[in-house]
Amino acid sequence: MITTSGLTKVYQSRGREVTALDGVDLHVREGEVYGVIGQSGAGKSSLIRCINLLERPTSGTVTVAGQDLTALAGRGRRAGKELREARSRIGMVFQHFNLLASRNVQDNVELPLEILGVFGKDRSRKALELLDLVGLADKAKAYPGQLSGGQKQRVGIARALAGDPKVLLSDEATSALDPETTRSVLQLLRDLNQQLGLTVLLITHEMDVVKTICDSAALMQKGRIVESGTVGELLATPGSELAHELFPVGGTASGPDRTVVDVTFHGEAATQPVISQLSRTYNIDISILGAAMDTVGGNQIGRMRIELPGRFEENVVPIGFLREQGLQAEVVEQDAASIPVQTPAPLTKEVAK
Ligand SMILES: Nc1ncnc2c1ncn2[C@@H]1O[C@H](COP(=O)(O)OP(=O)(O)OP(=O)(O)O)[C@@H](O)[C@H]1O
Ligand SMILES: [Mg+2]
Repeated sequence: MITTSGLTKVYQSRGREVTALDGVDLHVREGEVYGVIGQSGAGKSSLIRCINLLERPTSGTVTVAGQDLTALAGRGRRAGKELREARSRIGMVFQHFNLLASRNVQDNVELPLEILGVFGKDRSRKALELLDLVGLADKAKAYPGQLSGGQKQRVGIARALAGDPKVLLSDEATSALDPETTRSVLQLLRDLNQQLGLTVLLITHEMDVVKTICDSAALMQKGRIVESGTVGELLATPGSELAHELFPVGGTASGPDRTVVDVTFHGEAATQPVISQLSRTYNIDISILGAAMDTVGGNQIGRMRIELPGRFEENVVPIGFLREQGLQAEVVEQDAASIPVQTPAPLTKEVAK
């Protein structure tokens, strides 16, 4: 649904060049919720602004729903109408809502419809339908100043849906909201994704957002995508930074003569009592240093950091056993400096059982 290839963006800033995007290849499938995460300055907003051509890419291509937007943008005034139409099929939600304070809620939602040339009863009917969809039918005549942050963002989402978009882009839509409001806005995005088959590309710097609603995710650093995939794929990728962030398993090596292993449970293997089998088969005591489990796309996925007695050489066979059971088993470097120090994640009910 969204493909960027070799996308670069270089800003000219006071005579200096700033490379915000450095060859980004992104693939978002139809109907998925895709999260892009990264630190401040990584290029996340530049990416999203280049995807809907709010910002002109320096090079590379952007294709949305099979249409090459960069080609349209390059073809001058005559393609302008086509580009405007294509862009109206891309909804955009902003961190600070960007509502017009002087217009009431309904008029804010009607604004893009006005621009699309929808008039009279059709326009107000559509706006009211959209407000109903986001749970704000009773606020049509209220002004933005009379709404909570979460309500304002719902108006922003209703407005973004005015052109019946296939794609919704969201740049930090929940960063200005408290955790509970964040959850309800994320739930709304998830519902819209499922009800309308809307593809959602969202930018966030909060791993929790990715964990709550994303099917796939990418990690951006210095204008590049350094990791990407479905959440399941990421979790099964040894050494994946996103996987560690999504499922921090905490705990570090407690001393020499110990081997610390990160085990990722995935699919069928997640339902088997593998750790107790390992312990019984090799008659070894296993310490669990940390664990986290979650249901992603209906499948139970989790990670566990375990400690086995003895050095790595002595544990080759037990680690092989884990891998034979279909688990991902990754040995954590004993060098303390290379082990990310994280607070252990609380065990969920599934693990405690
Ligand atoms: N209009 C601009 N002119 C010049 N430089 C810019 C412009 N917009 C962004 N940049 C620079 O491009 C780089 C990427 O910025 P961008 O806003 O895309 O990052 P971000 O990942 O969205 O960060 P944040 O999490 O803080 O929103 C930064 O170094 C930024 O200073
Ligand atoms: Mg940004």
